[in-house]
Formats: sequence, C-alpha cells, structure tokens
Amino acid sequence: MEFESNWNNGTMIREIVKYPDPILQRPTEKVTEFDEELRTLAADMFESMYKAVGIGLAAPQIGVGKRITVIDLSNQKNPDDKIVLVNPVIVHKEGKQVEEEGCLSLPDIRDKVTRAAKVKVNAQDLEGKAIELEGTELLARAFQHEIDHLDGILFPWRLSALKRDLILRRIRKLQKSGEWK
Ligand code: NI
Repeated sequence: MEFESNWNNGTMIREIVKYPDPILQRPTEKVTEFDEELRTLAADMFESMYKAVGIGLAAPQIGVGKRITVIDLSNQKNPDDKIVLVNPVIVHKEGKQVEEEGCLSLPDIRDKVTRAAKVKVNAQDLEGKAIELEGTELLARAFQHEIDHLDGILFPWRLSALKRDLILRRIRKLQKSGEWK
C-alpha cells in the first residue's frame, strides 16, 4: 500500500504494516530475480524506513513477502551506512548482549531483548553477488532483528512467555480502544 510518492527519484514511501498482520508472522520467500523491480523495492524500503525514522526495515513490513532487508544505523546521515541484505543467513553468532529493542511494526512497544553480541551474515547484494558482513553491538542487533522478520519472528517472541503475554495483552487493549492502528 502506498500513500505518498516522491516524484524526484521515483521511489515510493509505503505504509508500514503493523502487528498482527499475518504477513509479519510468515517466513518470506527467497529472492531469485535480481532485477529493476528488486532495486526499486530496496529504494522504497529505505525511503519508507527514513520516513518512519527507523534504522532497519524488512520487506514484510511493507507487505512484501520477500527475503530482503535494509539497515541504516545513521538514519540517512551517512551514505556509507546503507546496507541491503538479500537472502541473508546468520552463519556465526557469539557472545551475548541485552539491550532495549523496538520495532516499527509494534509502535511504542519496547523491551530488553537478549541477542548475540557478534554475528556474521552471508547474503547477496542487489546484483546477486555473494557478500559477507560482520556486526557487533547495535549492528549485530539490527542483523538479528531484521533477519528474524524474514523468518516471521517479531521481537516479543524472543522474550519470556510472561513478558510476551504482557505485551500482547497491552496490544489487545489498545486495539479495543482504537489506539492501535
Ligand atoms: Ni522490526
């Protein structure tokens, strides 16, 4: 779904899909075509993420069930920070970090999530070329959060059952009162 066009470069800001939309809870399909459509999708994902002031966005979050995610820890300040991961897989994890996490598909919900401190990711770029990336701290967290999205997993699923249920109850309450859109 799109609600705004940026006529300068042809990219489209797309609406962020919110929980409990089923597309967020389904594993995505592997990308096999490295074409113009994929490049446009990645560009749209960056624009939509910047508009929503996020640092990472996975395709299901704009309603596309494909295995692609974009990350920019600088939120547009540093072009070198732009990362596109097509068909990413975490191939190595080490250590542990516990930090607060949020998600554009779960507005205003935040909690401390345990993640690996360092991860190595194998993926492809927009041309289909194999790439390997390593991340620590926030970048490692972003890799794990976004790749979880591609597997249909949202961050509350990484919490204890008790904490997850508290969050889901809070969302149901907000849904009932019409504050969850
Ligand atoms: Ni998220």
